[in-house]
Amino acid sequence: MKAILLESKAEPLRLKEVSMPIMSNDGVLVRLAASAFNHRDYYIQQGTYPRTKYPIIIGSDGAGVVEDVGKNVGREFIGSNVVINPSHNWGDNPKAQQKNFTVLGFPENGTFAEYIAVPAKYVLPKPKVLSFEEAAAIALVGLTAYRALFTRGNLERSETVLVTGIGGGVAVTALQFALAVGANVFVTSGSDEKIAKAISLGASGGTNYTTATWAEDLQKLAGRFDLIVDGAAGPDFARLLDVAAPGGRIVNYGSVQGKIQNAEPARIFWKQLSILGSTMGTEEEFAAMLRFVERHDIKPVIDSVFSLDEAEKGMQRMASGKQFGKVVLRHDG
Ligand SMILES: NC(=O)c1ccc[n+]([C@@H]2O[C@H](COP(=O)([O-])OP(=O)(O)OC[C@H]3O[C@@H](n4cnc5c(N)ncnc54)[C@H](OP(=O)(O)O)[C@@H]3O)[C@@H](O)[C@H]2O)c1
Repeated sequence: MKAILLESKAEPLRLKEVSMPIMSNDGVLVRLAASAFNHRDYYIQQGTYPRTKYPIIIGSDGAGVVEDVGKNVGREFIGSNVVINPSHNWGDNPKAQQKNFTVLGFPENGTFAEYIAVPAKYVLPKPKVLSFEEAAAIALVGLTAYRALFTRGNLERSETVLVTGIGGGVAVTALQFALAVGANVFVTSGSDEKIAKAISLGASGGTNYTTATWAEDLQKLAGRFDLIVDGAAGPDFARLLDVAAPGGRIVNYGSVQGKIQNAEPARIFWKQLSILGSTMGTEEEFAAMLRFVERHDIKPVIDSVFSLDEAEKGMQRMASGKQFGKVVLRHDG
């Protein structure tokens, strides 16, 4: 079969001939119709993801059709349209993943391929409201946004929420999910155009984090925030402590801006803030996220679609930071 196999650091994404994946007795073979990029694919290509090793077929998001099943899996699943849960080996504790937890696409081979073999428990019926491309686009970011907002962030209807860096895949999904439950959502972005796009999706407003006064301007616009969902960290994280409401929650899921710097402890303890981390989610959360998407008829925001053999163009689009929403790969050309 053909797949995007990375064999060394910083190599451009290219389709190569590789052997077919081997399905376990409890596994299914999925012919992938679509996959999608996440920021981790870029970190793996650049060799900056923890313990990166090559060769690897990257890609965490995928949707397609079950082509074959292992001997312990019912043959009635053959021909089903499915979406793949990229969160593997979570374990029994819903509070945190176990040590051998992995995200599909490293260290296990991922979805930028014609076929993938995965344990049957990680494939779920594709929500009927979504195309294959949309289903691939929602998998990892939907799970991450769902756990960050609801399990960790305990979002309640009509709370005021801030989502930072709205151009990102997780961020725009968090915006859609928070709006679906009636929250009042504000955003930040490095681009005024992206703030305008977020407003057209239902955000109440936003400020540009490249200006010196973004945090003060945001407070003038929105007051203070009950819940902040942040994938940036970096030097601006300290400002989030200012814009959080007393007793507020800040859920961090990423660090596109690097280490948290100069955070003032008194801001945290005096304001009774909760600083929470969130990563991916459990199998139950993945299933609940798909039901949520179906119930609220949510369509993921797709920035652009490339064919599998144009994957490097897709990677460059994501690496440029110009995207608003998900960069998707269509596998049928
Ligand atoms: N913990 C988990 O389970 C999990 C899951 C998914 C992703 N992540 C991590 O979360 C981060 C985002 O991932 P993604 O795939 O959603 O990224 P993405 O689609 O590549 O987008 C990255 C976004 O970061 C935003 N950004 C850059 N500088 C910022 C700043 N100073 N303040 C606020 N936002 C800033 C940009 O927003 P604008 O374009 O609007 O400026 C950009 O769109 C990455 O670090 C990724 O590894 C973690």
